[in-house]
Amino acid sequence: MGRLRNRVLEANREAAKFYYNTLCSPQGRKGLDYFHSRALSDRTIRHFGLGYADDNWSSLCTHLKSKGFKDSELVAANLAVNRKNGGGIYDRFTDRVMFPIINPRGNVIAFGGRIMSDAKPKYLNTSDTPVFKKSANLFSLNNAKNSGKRTLILCEGYMDVIAVNQAGFTNAVATLGTALTGEQAVLMKRYADEVIICYDADEAGQKATARAIPILRNSGLNVKVLTIPSGKDPDEFIKSKGNDGPAAFKVLLDKCGNDVEYRLQKLKNAHNIQLTEGKVAFLEEAAKLIATIGSPIERDVYSSKVASELGV
Ligand code: GTP
Ligand code: MN
Ligand code: MN
Ligand code: MN
Ligand code: MN
Repeated sequence: MGRLRNRVLEANREAAKFYYNTLCSPQGRKGLDYFHSRALSDRTIRHFGLGYADDNWSSLCTHLKSKGFKDSELVAANLAVNRKNGGGIYDRFTDRVMFPIINPRGNVIAFGGRIMSDAKPKYLNTSDTPVFKKSANLFSLNNAKNSGKRTLILCEGYMDVIAVNQAGFTNAVATLGTALTGEQAVLMKRYADEVIICYDADEAGQKATARAIPILRNSGLNVKVLTIPSGKDPDEFIKSKGNDGPAAFKVLLDKCGNDVEYRLQKLKNAHNIQLTEGKVAFLEEAAKLIATIGSPIERDVYSSKVASELGV
């Protein structure tokens, strides 16, 4: 098992190099154009080791076999798949731009691949392998670990993390296409004391935020919630601001409140507090929320805040 793990890690490292080199070659033009159209600089592309898997169905397998990797090792790495009717293997990722997932020790443990059209699935990830468990890893934790901060910015997607990094905030991470797990929260606590949830502004992102708050809290992390205005995700927001993207994102980071303030704001938005019934309903629900806070001092702070905001 130890030997297979090593071979899988070695194959992943070679694959990351191969995908990157392809991106930088004439065969990778399409991928490079795509990343440029998403406003990524060449420096960012290199920093994240982004790549391109071509549409040939065997380029990676041929390359890695020439480097001495066995079919079984490439299948174990989920870089290749066995053909249905016996005989041979073929590349798992084709015609996708590639995002290597690198753990804090610097090993390439998996990949995400995005299709460049509207076809489905939009993203394809490495399935679980001897070196990768999707639910127990985070994208870009290798960068965040070296950010010098004890705060992590938790985003939904690869492109969000990369855009946030390019804007100068290197402490961003993302889950890998699944809902946040307790294992990921425990992992974050190893590197941080505080997490700023920065999910998409859409309905799905807001639901995911509500689910993530208790999971992070239970791991002993302080939680803040950054709300992206006007229905965008962090990547789209930063891009929409052009050269002012980094400064505009910094404003959002600086003004975001903690999880309780976020939940109180949500409750307030859900009621018409101009009406007496609305006010009463809001106050009842706010009281319930505040009652769940462990610290009596914190409870007092929020009670006073709600009372003064409503003039009661
Ligand atoms: P872009 O369209 O490239 O900006 O992606 P996005 O990150 O904005 O996409 P979205 O908000 O829809 O999804 C957030 C994250 O969920 C992605 O970065 C992926 O990790 C994951 N995801 C999205 N679509 C799929 C999919 O079809 N399959 C899988 N496995 N994961 C997905
Ligand atoms: Mn989304
Ligand atoms: Mn996006
Ligand atoms: Mn998104
Ligand atoms: Mn999108």
